[in-house]
Amino acid sequence: MSDAKRPLRRSQAWFGRQDRDGFIYRSWLKNRGIPHDQFDGRPVIGICNTYSELTPCNSHFRTLAEQVKIGVWEAGGFPLEFPVMSLGETLLRPTAMLFRNLASMDVEESIRANPLDGVVLLMGCDKTTPSLLMGAASCDVPTIGVSGGPMLNGKYRGGDIGSGTGVWQMSEEVRAGRMAQQEFFEAESCMHRSHGHCMTMGTASTMASMVEALGMSLPGNAAIPAVDARRNVLARESGRRIVQMVKDDLVMSKILTRAAFENAIRVNAAIGGSTNAVIHLLAIAGRIGVDLSLADWDALGHNLPCLLDLQPSGKYLMEDFYYAGGLPAVIRELEPVLDRSALTVNGQTLWDNCKDAPNWNREVIRSWAEPFKPHAGIAVLRGNLCPDGAVIKPSAATPALLKHTGRAVVFEDSEDMHRRLDDESLDVDENCVLVLKNCGPKGYPGMAEAGNMPLPPKVLRKGITDMVRVSDARMSGTAYGTVVLHVAPEAAAGGPLALVQNGDMVELDVEARKLHLHVPEEELARRRAAWQAPQSPMPSGWTKLYFDHVQQANLGADMDFLVGKRGAGIPKDNH
Ligand code: FES
Repeated sequence: MSDAKRPLRRSQAWFGRQDRDGFIYRSWLKNRGIPHDQFDGRPVIGICNTYSELTPCNSHFRTLAEQVKIGVWEAGGFPLEFPVMSLGETLLRPTAMLFRNLASMDVEESIRANPLDGVVLLMGCDKTTPSLLMGAASCDVPTIGVSGGPMLNGKYRGGDIGSGTGVWQMSEEVRAGRMAQQEFFEAESCMHRSHGHCMTMGTASTMASMVEALGMSLPGNAAIPAVDARRNVLARESGRRIVQMVKDDLVMSKILTRAAFENAIRVNAAIGGSTNAVIHLLAIAGRIGVDLSLADWDALGHNLPCLLDLQPSGKYLMEDFYYAGGLPAVIRELEPVLDRSALTVNGQTLWDNCKDAPNWNREVIRSWAEPFKPHAGIAVLRGNLCPDGAVIKPSAATPALLKHTGRAVVFEDSEDMHRRLDDESLDVDENCVLVLKNCGPKGYPGMAEAGNMPLPPKVLRKGITDMVRVSDARMSGTAYGTVVLHVAPEAAAGGPLALVQNGDMVELDVEARKLHLHVPEEELARRRAAWQAPQSPMPSGWTKLYFDHVQQANLGADMDFLVGKRGAGIPKDNH
């Protein structure tokens, strides 16, 4: 069932049959009143829905799916909605990232095993976007993305508060004794007051922007608020468009080219996007067969300006971004560096879609000539502490700490950190480097968003708000600070991070792209000989499979056996 055998209308291998099996394929679907003419060869469109009450950011997806269906019908297609594993960032333990690859398998196998000619992906909360794109990419049928859209701005005591970013800020205020617990509770219902995903430029908004920048959605997808009627319009128009995409055989691999990924990396810099996009785009590229590496992030994105004044790097929120013009207005500013050849799902290039986009608020979306921050993007670090790389987001860091050498204060894992961080006897000051181990893909397991470690209370009380932190973890896209992430190989895979001890000197030099552990090689060899590899926390099941097969962060943390495209050839009959 190689992709070479994929016919233009896969669905006809089910519904076009006149025999016993054709009866079975059609008859059971007719149980909800579907007329016989729906099986006449019109494009059958799967609507891949990540609705779940356990994924609050996707709680409005039933409405969105209905809008897509109307669009599909309007264009003469036959929509069939199906659920896939949904990943709610806030509730899933130990981390939603442990299940991204599992959900991608659900998506891939659901598409291939069913009579679908094209797919609409409904994505919102952080991991629902990469998991659906990864799974669909491995099938490579005509596909269009529809994001759920951000929540309305959080409003608290007369001001705006942003998802995540406000939590990190306020929890530090509580820990420092400057905010009462009751105020903290009050803020909970003020921060998230509508349907939608986090309304900062966190991972969900970043990935929705990546969907649009990659050309995988209609223009405007990134920023329309979830509850704005225009989000429904976009869903409906996407339903119409996928039908034509099937007729044109506009498969994913025609859109997800190297040029598309390069543009997405540039856009990520311009929006001050999440470091999580690095891992997710590497994984998606791996599925579709585009040669993309960690080094590309630095080569293409560094030194590009950040144009958006949005939290966590800036001040505004996604609602403001949409009213200011949304992502097309940012992409228009990228004219000097954009690859204009990249095609999008509407059949036009990204540049054609955005070249006349208006900008209604220059405070929110700045110009190329007068950017919000002159140097953005993701810096990729190298050195004896991270032979396969590590990343830092300079725009979210404290400039004075971007070149810093400090004494390591080491936490062996997140439990150790939680146990000791608030201990007043902890030997730490603001010049130290906090080092956290065993939070990477294998170590946590699942690569937790633990990299933005809280600061010790005795440092906070001095009014210090940032320290250099180094780990093999990820960081929430809503977080900020001088935080080195994704150290590869991770500690649990035997990377040098596993060998760091309290008192070692760690040197960070972002300009030189350097992360160095000042310990003699002979001493490191002695420590390495004493190191013991950890076991999977589960002896069997998904966690064991994941532990045994997950790749390192610099490769996108995909499973080794899932990399690549397996196409959407027609499987055998089921009888
Ligand atoms: Fe779902 Fe932030 S928790 S997008």
